[in-house]
Amino acid sequence: MPPASKAHRPAASRAPRARRGRFVVLDGPDGAGKSTQVQLLAEQLAKRGVHTLSLREPGGTTAGEVIRSLLLERRQDRLTPVAETFLFEAARAQLVEEVIRPALAQGTWVICDRFTLSTLVYQGHAGGVDARAIEQMSKLATGGLKPDLYLVLWVDANVGIARRESRQADRMEAKGRRFIEDVAKAYKKLAGGRRSPYAFIQAAGLVEDVRKRIWERVETLL
Ligand code: TYD
Repeated sequence: MPPASKAHRPAASRAPRARRGRFVVLDGPDGAGKSTQVQLLAEQLAKRGVHTLSLREPGGTTAGEVIRSLLLERRQDRLTPVAETFLFEAARAQLVEEVIRPALAQGTWVICDRFTLSTLVYQGHAGGVDARAIEQMSKLATGGLKPDLYLVLWVDANVGIARRESRQADRMEAKGRRFIEDVAKAYKKLAGGRRSPYAFIQAAGLVEDVRKRIWERVETLL
């Protein structure tokens, strides 16, 4: 099993395998609390008898983890936003083909920390890479696979920065305040509108409140 993936099996009975699994994504700015919520969601689904697999992007495959260290190592300061885009999309293509599609086909639910919107926000809106080019690349990388539910956990830049202060910044996080503000704004713009295809969740409050908001959405897929 690749290091970044975590399988949760329900304690008592196994979920029926005939039905395709659901694909749920949690995305949002750094410091929105995604990894905590991915874990809570996986536990809650397991209690309901759903077999889940939790993943994070970039990563989740052997190639993806190598790409991850390339992207997040602080020594690699000179990657251009276009180079980053290719690397994130390459990791994604591998993850979709090698892990996500087979899991869904077996009836496993996949919960993924970040997906295509991250690239559109970080490399596109904040990094300056053409958004349409990114959309094309994401389509190629995913083979058209779309999440059944795409949640965006949103916090403004100040909350995100405060929550991350205790952690050592990686290369993406070290891009500076302006970049972090651009990221937060882009998530709001792309996901916060009335007609947005994303489920926009205010994530500045208590972990338990955010968990409930997420569960309300996920429950509809059961
Ligand atoms: P990670 O430590 O996983 O951050 P987080 O816990 O906030 O998800 O690092 C992922 C970093 O990579 C994060 O700063 C966002 C960035 N990223 C992109 O810039 N583009 C992408 O397409 C993806 C998937 C992530």
